[in-house]
Amino acid sequence: MSSSAYGIDLGTSNIKICAKGSKEIFCQKNMIAIEGKGNLFAYGDDAHEMYEKAPGNIHISYPLMNGVIADINNMQTLIHCFMEEICGGNIRPADYYIAVPTDVTDVEKRAFYDLIKNANVKAKSVMVVEKAIADGLGLEIDVKNSQGVLVVDVGYDTTEISILSLGGIVVSRLIKVGGLKFDDAIRSAVRKEYSLIIGGKTAEKVKNELADMAYAEQPSVVYGRDIVSGLPVEREIPTDLVEEYLYEHFVTIIDNIKLILERTPPELAADIYRQGIYLTGGACQVSQLSQLISNGTNLKVNVAEHPVESVALGLGRIIEDDNYKSVAYLPGGAD
Ligand SMILES: Nc1ncnc2c1ncn2[C@@H]1O[C@H](COP(=O)(O)OP(=O)(O)OP(=O)(O)O)[C@@H](O)[C@H]1O
Ligand SMILES: [Mg+2]
Repeated sequence: MSSSAYGIDLGTSNIKICAKGSKEIFCQKNMIAIEGKGNLFAYGDDAHEMYEKAPGNIHISYPLMNGVIADINNMQTLIHCFMEEICGGNIRPADYYIAVPTDVTDVEKRAFYDLIKNANVKAKSVMVVEKAIADGLGLEIDVKNSQGVLVVDVGYDTTEISILSLGGIVVSRLIKVGGLKFDDAIRSAVRKEYSLIIGGKTAEKVKNELADMAYAEQPSVVYGRDIVSGLPVEREIPTDLVEEYLYEHFVTIIDNIKLILERTPPELAADIYRQGIYLTGGACQVSQLSQLISNGTNLKVNVAEHPVESVALGLGRIIEDDNYKSVAYLPGGAD
């Protein structure tokens, strides 16, 4: 039997895991529910299901913040739970590849390595891969031979904008804008314009359905609590109002893409101009964003077919094909 290997994309909102020899990507919410003084109550999608509904003695949280590990103990517990689930309760020794953001400190990168080493998952080896490189591979780009690839990954807490060339990263910038900021903008729009308080999950649903609703020329229907009467009500929210509130965050992303383009060595610009921008990450699907990026940069925008999974798909290619192993490395200070 061939040796086991796993690739992990530790997203702030979703954890995605690929396994050697399998085409399927395991994807669950990166959330944990702790009861009382520290008992594991639920994890993953089950914990997310309880979010905003649980009583006070159950604490539900995301162990990652802004793309980096904020709560190591809970993150280790989660990794162990997910691997147990994937391995059917029998975790066997395996090699691990873990994706890390580029524009973070070496200590933060190293924390991803330590996490897997200490998660009690029988890691034989742990290698890290820059997220944008994995994204590129997941998007089927020949990252080792291309000279100038612009990848924009719009995730939950962050957007990572990177220029790749010849299998490495030339420049990368992590900004604190993503799906969560979009959800918050929708919540404040509904509150300001309709005096209605809605939950984060409702706002997320509005955002994710926005493109379909706008296309069908239908308003979004939300349930929330009226600020004045304090009673639960249902309201119709026009899609153009929501889009208006999202706009400022789209502008932040576009301005940062332009900034990166300004810092790109001119020799790489030719490939970027020819190929356009590669847009991925779950929140890149939000209504209008790809079009506005294209308008704002005068570049073609290629939207990923599987935006949530592209990093994990790329890690899968590294695991399956020795030709790509050279993009993975041991972080500084690792033994
Ligand atoms: N159809 C959709 N339209 C808009 N946003 C969407 C859609 N589907 C998913 N999303 C958003 O994508 C985000 C999750 O994407 P993803 O899994 O790429 O993030 P992540 O990897 O967990 O986060 P990060 O990379 O910031 O750590 C969530 O904010 C989710 O609401
Ligand atoms: Mg991500």
